[in-house]
Amino acid sequence: MKIFNDIKELREHLEIYRKEGKTIGLVPTMGYLHRGHISLVQKSVKDNDITVLSIYVNPTQFGPTEDLDKYPKDIENDKKLAKEAGVDVIFIPTNTVMYLDNHATYVTVNNLTDNLCGKSRPTHFRGVTTIVTKLFNIVQPNRAYFGQKDAQQAIVIKKMVKDLNMPIDIIICPIIRENDGLALSSRNTYLDHEERNQATILYKSLQKSKECIKNGEQSATIIKDIIRKTIEEKPSATIDYISIVNEDTLEDIDYIQGNILIALAVKIGQTRLIDNLRMEVI
Ligand code: PAJ
Repeated sequence: MKIFNDIKELREHLEIYRKEGKTIGLVPTMGYLHRGHISLVQKSVKDNDITVLSIYVNPTQFGPTEDLDKYPKDIENDKKLAKEAGVDVIFIPTNTVMYLDNHATYVTVNNLTDNLCGKSRPTHFRGVTTIVTKLFNIVQPNRAYFGQKDAQQAIVIKKMVKDLNMPIDIIICPIIRENDGLALSSRNTYLDHEERNQATILYKSLQKSKECIKNGEQSATIIKDIIRKTIEEKPSATIDYISIVNEDTLEDIDYIQGNILIALAVKIGQTRLIDNLRMEVI
């Protein structure tokens, strides 16, 4: 497994693979790897000759009051997990490598970034789409892998690739969860023991909403109310949003029908967690 911090050296190395006709899969991450990240790596290893993992805590996607400075890091463990999973190349750039002092160019996807996480994190997706574009330009992968855990991010990136004619297949992988349903996240490490127990409420409330829809409930307001009441039973929980949207437009819907996404952002103590559920309702 090769490790690069520098763009030029990485490009020269990847050029060798490309000349040999090898396919390249890219898995962008912010590190502190867990089984969710590794599931993307495993899919890339299966699909491609070469898998590149990037580890970079991208400052432009964090708001001024967010957790950029305390974002968890364990680069040695990340390298170990990456190697075990079959990563060929890790790219670990520094801020000075990724952003020149006078960086002035951003990629924005309109409309899809207005709702859900875009509402409470207004500059977040601009940071994500900008860094992902830069990583795509640097690595020039055939395929890139993202998790359904960040449902809006996945949809926004797919749209960006389509709108800007980027020649990359975007593969979305399922959410990996703990045994009790909590979606794996690097931020789970912030939770203390009691908060960790209460954090399962995100998944439990989504499961409850699924049951109600299966039993014929068609009102989004009623479903959202059921989710809200379930979450509010946990004293550490503060709801940021509970939304039921059309999966293509990410616009709120009133009537449960078609491809829907039920998405939540909830603070457990000081830690903001997200989760979601997709359903096709005929
Ligand atoms: P990060 O939060 O490190 O996540 C990297 C990738 O892993 C994302 O595509 C995310 O959706 C996926 N992932 C995280 N938890 C998962 C889980 N439990 N199951 C399945 N996949 C999971 O998302 C980012 O980093 C950044 O925004 C990034 C795309 C790297 C741009 O900076």
